[in-house]
Amino acid sequence: MTTQLPVSTNVVWHRATVTRARREAQNGHRGVIIWFTGLSGSGKSTLAHAVEDELHQRGCRTFVLDGDNVRHGLCGDLGFSAKDRQENIRRIGEMATIFMEAGVIVLTAFISPYRADRERVRSIVECGDFIEIYCDTPIEICELRDVKGLYKKARAGQLAEFTGITSPYEVPKNCELTVQTGLAELDVCVHQVVGKMMQYGIINVENFSHESSKKV
Ligand code: ADX
Repeated sequence: MTTQLPVSTNVVWHRATVTRARREAQNGHRGVIIWFTGLSGSGKSTLAHAVEDELHQRGCRTFVLDGDNVRHGLCGDLGFSAKDRQENIRRIGEMATIFMEAGVIVLTAFISPYRADRERVRSIVECGDFIEIYCDTPIEICELRDVKGLYKKARAGQLAEFTGITSPYEVPKNCELTVQTGLAELDVCVHQVVGKMMQYGIINVENFSHESSKKV
């Protein structure tokens, strides 16, 4: 499936003098897209916000893009068909890229159920700029939690194309990290994500190695 994009003509890219590299140097960390994927209720948003909090306390520039929030505005015209989800993820990918260019650590929390849609976002940025994290909570646990009551509705046939029930979720094959968000404590998951970010050189080890170095 391909998205038919309008073709803009006579547009010329304007190069910024304040570059991504200059912004990153000022921030003291790299800009990056940390892409959380998983079923509804798998803990993506909770983890993304908890990681953001940890990073913010250490002086990092961060922002969380969350599925439910973005669907109130920018993607409010989209539903949950495969085509609409593809467009949703395309827009988020473009927006996340802009944040990253601004030197920000952008954490995205979208089901993003289709492998091809996630790979498309990965393909528009440089290698190392897209860190995919699979929130691996089994559907049984998501359904048991059912924070928003949507699984109940989907089982009752009141909600069409619900991920994991009447719409597919494609588990990542080559993600950078899998977190057991259904089993592990939140702080353990946060630690794993932050550890991965240090391993990739996105943030400095020194900023995260001493409790006393926390900035509020
Ligand atoms: S995505 O599939 O396009 O990535 P997105 O993350 O933006 O989805 O939105 C998912 C959220 O929308 C869920 O957490 C849930 O609250 C809500 N939602 C409403 N209807 C559905 C549906 N049919 N399938 C999945 N999520 C739904």
